[in-house]
Amino acid sequence: MPNETKLLRPAIRTGKNIILRPPTKADIPKFLVWFNDPEINGYLNRYLPVYERDEELWLESLQKNKETDIVFVIETIGGVSLGTVGLHRIHWKDRTGVLGIAIGEKKYWNKGIGTEAIMLLLDYAFNALNLRKITLSVLGNNKRGQACYHKCGFIVEGCCVREIYKNGRYEDEILMAVFKKGWRSLWKKYKNKP
Ligand SMILES: CC(C)(COP(=O)(O)OP(=O)(O)OC[C@H]1O[C@@H](n2cnc3c(N)ncnc32)[C@H](O)[C@@H]1OP(=O)(O)O)[C@@H](O)C(=O)NCCC(=O)NCCS
Repeated sequence: MPNETKLLRPAIRTGKNIILRPPTKADIPKFLVWFNDPEINGYLNRYLPVYERDEELWLESLQKNKETDIVFVIETIGGVSLGTVGLHRIHWKDRTGVLGIAIGEKKYWNKGIGTEAIMLLLDYAFNALNLRKITLSVLGNNKRGQACYHKCGFIVEGCCVREIYKNGRYEDEILMAVFKKGWRSLWKKYKNKP
């Protein structure tokens, strides 16, 4: 029976430790916990409380806007939902998109899950959607995020100094990007790692 359940999981990408799958209404209780958590929000460009109805409407909007916004739940192979990763503001002429990620289950931070989720998402962005360049922005004090993005091939393109108010101070917003061209060799190595 567990194997049958696994077969039914709609994984758009399957890695060594995780899958990426579309979110459903059943994910909303976890989203509410993750995205109202001040520690997690301290790293995100979020500051208002998130209500159940917000999440219902957001899920509906995702279904309508999938040409421009695609979000997946990061789930362990064993079936534990850990967070979300997505592409936003997809632009089909310029072939660009903006990456966002949050691992809501904090005990899974620093275990390579973020790196794996981003590499799988970039595989989807570059090799399924034929995008060319993915950008993101990260707070200057989010050293874990920056280290993770570097491992996935992102480089710094710029910095908006003291741009975002967080926890009583203004933080730098660092702009990073990865191109399909440079990322391919990294992906080859990553895929073949035992
Ligand atoms: C940022 C996030 C996606 C990274 O995912 P993760 O699974 O924790 O990251 P990984 O384990 O793949 O990589 C993290 C790297 O940062 C390093 N790191 C951790 N803390 C660090 C610090 N203070 N300074 C420098 N490097 C640090 C780790 O050692 C690891 O590198 P290594 O594998 O070479 O040792 C995840 O922690 C998260 O969702 N955090 C909360 C929300 C958030 O910050 N979202 C991103 C907003 S832009």
